[in-house]
Amino acid sequence: MIVALDHIAIAVPDLEKAISRFAEDFGLEYHGREDVESAKTSTAFFPLPATSIELVHPLKGEGPIAKYLEKKPGGLHHLCFRSDNLEADVVRLQKKGYQFLSDTPQPGAHGCKVIFIHPKCCDGVLIELNQPSANAHL
Ligand code: CO
Repeated sequence: MIVALDHIAIAVPDLEKAISRFAEDFGLEYHGREDVESAKTSTAFFPLPATSIELVHPLKGEGPIAKYLEKKPGGLHHLCFRSDNLEADVVRLQKKGYQFLSDTPQPGAHGCKVIFIHPKCCDGVLIELNQPSANAHL
């Protein structure tokens, strides 16, 4: 039986830069590095509270997921981090040079406000930030 999503791995060309992005820019708890000799990899972990798997499919055959599926057969599309103050996080990250796919947060699933960071700012990974509405049940 599958009991948990244990981790998501992102391949990064500059580990120190990526650690500072997740620890300082995104404010995640950093649990340190480990070199795994047998796998010839250096790893860094950022544990997170319980999460969800989101399956995304084009609505009425249109939109960004339709465009994505024209190029790929499917795949890992984005990571989403929850914010408790989305507008403030957007301003803070813009000052650090992050570019967003829209000027302001947009309505998302569960009544959340959402905004996406351009993947070129995050080693090719599309990152969504969301903030639940006050009465959302996640
Ligand atoms: Co999402």
